[in-house]
Amino acid sequence: MQVFFYILASMSEVKEYYNSIANNYDKNRFGNSYGKFIDAEERKILAKWLIGMNKETILDYGCGTGRLSEFANSGMDISEKMLQLAQQKNPAKKYFLLDKNGLLIENNSMTAIYSFHVIMHLSKNEFKETINFIYNKLDTNGVFIFDILSPFRKSKKDGWHANTSYSIEEISKLLENKFDIISYKGILFLPIHRIPISLRRYFLWLDILLCNSFLKKHASYYCIYAKKK
Ligand SMILES: C[S@@+](CC[C@H](N)C(=O)[O-])C[C@H]1O[C@@H](n2cnc3c(N)ncnc32)[C@H](O)[C@@H]1O
Repeated sequence: MQVFFYILASMSEVKEYYNSIANNYDKNRFGNSYGKFIDAEERKILAKWLIGMNKETILDYGCGTGRLSEFANSGMDISEKMLQLAQQKNPAKKYFLLDKNGLLIENNSMTAIYSFHVIMHLSKNEFKETINFIYNKLDTNGVFIFDILSPFRKSKKDGWHANTSYSIEEISKLLENKFDIISYKGILFLPIHRIPISLRRYFLWLDILLCNSFLKKHASYYCIYAKKK
């Protein structure tokens, strides 16, 4: 528990950042053609992997403003401002602040937890803590779906923002005592930012095809479907 609160303390910079950009997050990150492109790919994957599951026991971890909340009945985040917006958009859903009521979510109570655009911000230690947290909340055979940046396509930056990438082999090792990787898909294979804006949406089918092919390892990021051991 002590380690957990230590990690929470180091998350304060991330939390402040997301609090400060919350009001413009949806418009700036997902309101443009690039954002819409990846949003469409991520939704397609979630719809496929969560089909037939009861939303009541699905949690969106690092849910932000609730962009992907339609797949779950609850969400959790470290940013109060992001959560406020998620709650306004989805009054019937339950949102939890990680270091407050988030700890009240019972262990073994979730059948699936998904997390998008979160792990790329976490240090290795924070990620390990997050895996422990998610593992404890999931029921036997619970499903953990998350994205990670691919080390092959990412240019190294400074600071915490989108700075963590893993290969499938590395992630497999990090999860090894707790989760088995059942499957993974690529997201964003084509250099979509180089395609004229008005044409981008016509490349979605091709990108999805490539991201599901033997070339998926070369996508910008991966979406992983893992099962609790
Ligand atoms: C890039 S946003 C993604 C939001 C949402 N998942 C989406 O895809 O639109 C990252 C979110 O993760 C939250 N976050 C960052 N680190 C976190 C952590 N360790 N635990 C839970 N949430 C975290 C941030 O506050 C922010 O709302």
